Amino acid sequence: ADGDAAKGEKVFKKCAACHAVGEGAKNKVGPELNGIVGRTTASVADYKYSPAMKEKGDEGHVWTAEELDTYLANPKGMVPKTKMAFAGLKKEDERADVIAYLKTFGAD
Ligand code: HEM
Repeated sequence: ADGDAAKGEKVFKKCAACHAVGEGAKNKVGPELNGIVGRTTASVADYKYSPAMKEKGDEGHVWTAEELDTYLANPKGMVPKTKMAFAGLKKEDERADVIAYLKTFGAD
């Protein structure tokens, strides 16, 4: 089921220490997330990804809503050597909501 973007804005507080999204978003500890739904993995040119995340992008991986759901449930389950130090969102509704929120930001 589709998530609730308004609830997802609150869930995003768990991401915001490391990620910015929206107009003028800059890279922080992690890359900016504008247009992330549908974006090729590790494709922010001025952000220094881990070799593991770079490799995933080189393989042609794209952040569809489904792939984001899998990643956010357990980041190291999908990309064992990612440098994203985040345990993940165990609740399916929180993942759906934050993905719905991220969908509201197109590429800048
Ligand atoms: C990478 C989402 C929480 C640090 C990423 C990527 C996504 C993402 C989609 C891949 C970006 C790309 O391929 O361009 C999220 C969401 C979060 C979250 C939705 C909250 C639910 C965090 C937190 C931190 C963090 C809390 C810091 C403690 C990073 C870092 C990377 C990354 C360092 C780069 C990973 C690498 O190159 O291996 N994040 N993130 N993220 N995130 Fe997060």
